[in-house]
Amino acid sequence: MDALERATGVARYAADWKKKDMLYARIITSTVPNGRVVEIDKSGASGTEGVVDVVTCFDDRTIWHAGEREHERRLFTDRVRFVGDCIGAVAARTRMAAQKGSEAVRARYEEYQATFTIESSLREGAPKVWDDGNVLKTRNYGYGDVEEAFGACSVIVEGEYETARVHNSQLEPAASLAWWEGDRLTVVAATQSIFGCRNGIARDLGIPADNVRVITKYKGGGFGNKADSMNYDLIAAILARRTGRPVMVEYSRSDEFTSVHGRWSSRQKLRLGCDQSGNVLALEVNAMCDIGAYTRRIKPFNFVDGAQSYYSCRAFRGEDAGVYTNTPATGHMRAPSGPQSCFASETIMDEAAFRLGIDPLQFRLRNMVRVAHNSETLTSNGLEECLRAGAEAFGWKERRNAGAVAAETSTGAGVAIAAWHSRLGRGEAAVSLTRDGRIVVRTGVVDIGTGAKTTMAVIASRNTGMPIESVDVEWGDTEGSPYSVGESGSRTTAFTGTAVKAASTALRGRILEKASGISGIAPGSLEIRNGAVLNAGRKLLAVEDVAETLESELVEKAATEPALPKGTERLSFAAHFAEVEVDSETGAVRVLKYVAAHDSGPIVNSLTATSQVHGGVIMGMGMALTEQLLISDYDGSVLNGSFMLYRLPNIKQTPDIQAIFINTDDPFGPKSLGEITLVPVAAAIGNAIFNATGVRLRRTPFTPERVAAGIEGKRSESLPGAR
Ligand code: MOS
Repeated sequence: MDALERATGVARYAADWKKKDMLYARIITSTVPNGRVVEIDKSGASGTEGVVDVVTCFDDRTIWHAGEREHERRLFTDRVRFVGDCIGAVAARTRMAAQKGSEAVRARYEEYQATFTIESSLREGAPKVWDDGNVLKTRNYGYGDVEEAFGACSVIVEGEYETARVHNSQLEPAASLAWWEGDRLTVVAATQSIFGCRNGIARDLGIPADNVRVITKYKGGGFGNKADSMNYDLIAAILARRTGRPVMVEYSRSDEFTSVHGRWSSRQKLRLGCDQSGNVLALEVNAMCDIGAYTRRIKPFNFVDGAQSYYSCRAFRGEDAGVYTNTPATGHMRAPSGPQSCFASETIMDEAAFRLGIDPLQFRLRNMVRVAHNSETLTSNGLEECLRAGAEAFGWKERRNAGAVAAETSTGAGVAIAAWHSRLGRGEAAVSLTRDGRIVVRTGVVDIGTGAKTTMAVIASRNTGMPIESVDVEWGDTEGSPYSVGESGSRTTAFTGTAVKAASTALRGRILEKASGISGIAPGSLEIRNGAVLNAGRKLLAVEDVAETLESELVEKAATEPALPKGTERLSFAAHFAEVEVDSETGAVRVLKYVAAHDSGPIVNSLTATSQVHGGVIMGMGMALTEQLLISDYDGSVLNGSFMLYRLPNIKQTPDIQAIFINTDDPFGPKSLGEITLVPVAAAIGNAIFNATGVRLRRTPFTPERVAAGIEGKRSESLPGAR
């Protein structure tokens, strides 16, 4: 719907907004990893030309509730927990003055011992990130009797796996513009959820949600970095209240890497048991995750999650813990907990298949989930078709390396599967026919880059019978937009789309009644196709003609809230296939070909869905091959907080990626897609590297150094006389 605006630069992102007399703000952050701010000398900042206000942890005690799941996190904190923790902010007439002012603030700290790794946080007498300890236990979960099931296994594989800390790296950095009119606050935010943002701000400031208006017209990606309410939205609101002027808070790319959360790293121990014929009987996962100084992972979710949903096995047990360290906060990033979990479980499955001498594709076909968690009926399950159609399109048999490791480069193929939750919930929409014959869809979506606006328009077009060219979408403003769930958890199409469908269907009924009034033919004998009212296939009149007779806009509103019947589970599925080429000398890995087969239910818009798959696979390639947020062991700070040093995949490294959709029927309609697209990627690539080289990588990213070391290890193993 907005390709032209986005491509021509007309689209106004939050940072593009201008208000008369607006001020620019920069945050002031802690330079010590663990300690207490004793004193702040503002004079350098206040004396900086153009600076209007300096606020610190001693002036404002607002709590940012969404900032940490187990403890209170102050917006400006005097108890600092990592290098980059926010202790204040500066507002000034120009960006330059705000920047200079923030750099001129001097803070004196009482410094404590700090901890930067899981080991040091767990050590006896370790420095405390929080007074009540460094370990955040989450629930144990699982089903069946694991020990009994392992007892029946003839093959048991164990392994330890690690995933690195990575960052959302969405193109649009944080920006938030706020102003007050009396006791009413308006925030132009770069948020994934205008309603989540509004409710969070209202709660934190202690004002009614009705007094807060949030507007987001264009969004440059988020991937979980801007779900619910963010501290920079609050900072803008507080500075605007203090100065009586509009205030825009902006983050630089390095602020973004340091002061907004990324994805937590994981360390996982897995145990997998199979019987002689290769049936998986038991799986056990124990994980420790470095969650930084704060976790923005909401309750009650685990830090490693998902593996229990891919396979049918007799018993499963999972246990995980988040470990606090004096390093930047972690939190939601596209499929929170999924890629970590999938990497470990889909690697150990590959190891088991190899040990049993079973083709990894056949192993998955044999064991893939049919009854979820051994007790729940799946509303739909296209996983088998994903595996079969994906393998066919990929050329699985031809691309598998039969065992030849060539001198210079070798190629190989790998597969990995995944499942992801596909929730149902509240959606609202208003769809109307205007007097000039256009359809207007009003929804609370912001469109974080998934094409949500287009998706809503397509749903309205199909269900009203009007051409897509006649559909307009109004979106992204809590004043005027019906409620929509935040664009997180891959929920928008299922939640809000369901309401758009209901409202559009009702509107079509209303239009047919009106057309019946004009034509005298019963509504049941009429239909709308491509903007025309038809009877027995013959055009009677145009919908525009009906619209002309209206006294005012014809509006249909819908609020939907489908629920899953007890004992059922609703999941999306994927089977990913990767072909890699590995340079035996340097260890460099190139992905040659990639096929991603997805069951996300009926696909509404294959163009935007395909884009989701491409984006997710590229993001997964980053996790697999190049991305790692490097943390200093000296002070826990981020060492590579820029796109120069944090290595996102580039287009040259991106192979041909083929997306396949199974379009499985699901009684509740479209299932989730956005997040699952990246979940199996690292495992598929790692399994392909194993097939190419015989080197099993259990730690992401698969850097050339690690791959080369593995190949070197293999060589010495095969030397005569070795061991
Ligand atoms: Mo997402 S990580 O559910 O915004």
